[in-house]
Amino acid sequence: MKPVARIKQPIYTEMELFEKKFHESMSSKVSLLNRITYYIVNRKGKQMRPMFVFLVAKMVSGGKVNERTYRGASVIELIHTATLVHDDVVDDSNRRRGFFSLNALWKNKIAVLVGDYLLSKGLLLSIDNDDFDLLKIISVAVREMSEGELLQIEKARKLDITEEVYYEIIRQKTATLIAACCALGACSVKPGSEETERMRKFGELIGMAFQIKDDLFDYGDERIGKPTGIDIKEQKMTLPLIYTLNHCDEKDKRWLINSVKNHNKDMARVKEVIGFVKDKGGLQYAERKMKEFQKKALEILDAYPASEYKESLELMVNYVIDRKK
Ligand code: IPE
Ligand code: IPE
Ligand code: MG
Ligand code: MG
Repeated sequence: MKPVARIKQPIYTEMELFEKKFHESMSSKVSLLNRITYYIVNRKGKQMRPMFVFLVAKMVSGGKVNERTYRGASVIELIHTATLVHDDVVDDSNRRRGFFSLNALWKNKIAVLVGDYLLSKGLLLSIDNDDFDLLKIISVAVREMSEGELLQIEKARKLDITEEVYYEIIRQKTATLIAACCALGACSVKPGSEETERMRKFGELIGMAFQIKDDLFDYGDERIGKPTGIDIKEQKMTLPLIYTLNHCDEKDKRWLINSVKNHNKDMARVKEVIGFVKDKGGLQYAERKMKEFQKKALEILDAYPASEYKESLELMVNYVIDRKK
């Protein structure tokens, strides 16, 4: 059995029902919007975030989920989708999930508005059902994601990023939402318990590993359904490059900075930079750090008794770093 099928086994019925509810949660009276959301749901992603919601909920409750868990999963996937739609505008990227991005098909104007629509639908799903404890978890994540993206832009402009700042960026822009998935899964079935904070931490650690993996993809040329080699073009400095900058001589450092600053649209030069980073062991270093986060996440699961849900979560943690897209 494929790893993902194995992971999904204990939440198979929940994921089926989730997909239906997720689609319904987007409906609108505006037909243009419905055409676009139809396009979105037909190009679904890995759905890792709802999987985290259900697996965590079932692990901490001994196999039970409820309507709050379903709503939480939908809210998270709505917000995730909204941020991807906006992210492709921000990054000027024309591919997503193996197809054209919304901005490539409908232009930035519409993509920005659709992102806002999805975000508001997500928040309203919690509000309309009085899930205020869940809404609080989600709203913190939404705020942090915006801050993370803006911090990233600030650093891309100044090119003065350190490893510590990189971790802060990825914690905010990516880890916080995965942390919210796990916190929300726990909170949906055991409101007010300390489980929520423990699971939030677990999700945050996986989220860190998840984004380091995503940044490593950018240095490869595997087909992952979205463009690779665009981070340097966007002057986005990620862990492999940051490590290399801190571990080369002054002359090479000046060349690297100059390349990113003044020659970032020159694809031949970008390829040279990628080659240099590889030679200097930047990818291995990032992989090592990714595995440190993975290990810390797995340690948190140690506190739980054996169950099929825990086993799936362990597989999920490993999938985050072994995945091919
Ligand atoms: C992509 O997330 C955005 C990042 C945080 C790197 P996913 O890789 O989970 O995206 P989909 O939903 O599977 O397309
Ligand atoms: C991830 O950022 C998207 C958000 C967390 C909002 P990236 O720009 O690094 O991700 P991809 O590679 O486009 O999915
Ligand atoms: Mg981005
Ligand atoms: Mg992007």
